[in-house]
Amino acid sequence: ISDVPAQDLKGLILRGLEYKRTRELSGILGGKCLVLLFEKASTRTRMSFEVAVQELGGATIFMTPSESQLGRSEPLKDTARVASGYVHGLIVRTFAQSTLDELAQQGTIPVINALSDRFHPCQVLSDLLTISAHTPDFSDLTIAWVGDGNNMVHSWINAACFFPFELRVATPKDYAPDPEIIARARDCGARLHLGHDPVQAVEGADYINTDAWFSMGQEDQEQHRQQAFQGFQVNADLVRKAKPEAGVLHCLPAHRGQEITDEVIEGRQSLVWEQAANRLPMQKAVLEWIYSSYESS
Ligand code: CP
Ligand code: NVA
Repeated sequence: ISDVPAQDLKGLILRGLEYKRTRELSGILGGKCLVLLFEKASTRTRMSFEVAVQELGGATIFMTPSESQLGRSEPLKDTARVASGYVHGLIVRTFAQSTLDELAQQGTIPVINALSDRFHPCQVLSDLLTISAHTPDFSDLTIAWVGDGNNMVHSWINAACFFPFELRVATPKDYAPDPEIIARARDCGARLHLGHDPVQAVEGADYINTDAWFSMGQEDQEQHRQQAFQGFQVNADLVRKAKPEAGVLHCLPAHRGQEITDEVIEGRQSLVWEQAANRLPMQKAVLEWIYSSYESS
């Protein structure tokens, strides 16, 4: 999100809204092929990107380390250079942010972050689209984050630099967001409040946002985190503390009974299914933006 010029971000969301309304097909990626290089599992991101590329006239190749020479220790820089000769972009889901950075530096083609341990920008862009479809004016909005200080909230904090909503983050003490990301957001004037009290975060909020208590790669911490996150569940009692019509967001996959209850995710205030559907129009807007700016540069 921080790599998108501020003046383009709003337009990007508006374009996503247009794609949502029209499901427009086009040939803007005609003759182009993008590789999805995924080191972690995915349902939504993989499907929505593959369909988005197809609906814009392009083709995709899906690869995992175990099916490529990356799994046999071929250096990333070699992969980036070789891919740059064949395809027009890499859509990468990985662990270390440095993997994305290296691919971007060593290759000559655009690299899209489809989730790293540090950020999940395409998800948050589409969540901004979801919110925008309900409340186009962000200036009076309060968005609460309840749960882990993870990749999702890092991208939300980055977004708070560019949009005027108030972001209230409540995490357990040992699971706060990265101080460097917080400091950058403070410098750019984000309306950011950090704390450890879920009730305080959601009081009067317009949207409540949560995510898994343990992310991909942290499966061995599940037991431990279940203890540490007690009190951070988004349940009916917590939702009642927000505005009466507050929307509930979760990027999915959800662990019902942990970070969110079945009652809330299936309830009338849940936006999660619409939120998941919005990945497709937002990916189309992201691809269009990247390839139109890339080609004119
Ligand atoms: N929300 C999200 O990124 O889902 P997937 O892991 O299924 O792609
Ligand atoms: N924080 C989660 C998001 C999944 C889409 C993870 O990284 O596993």
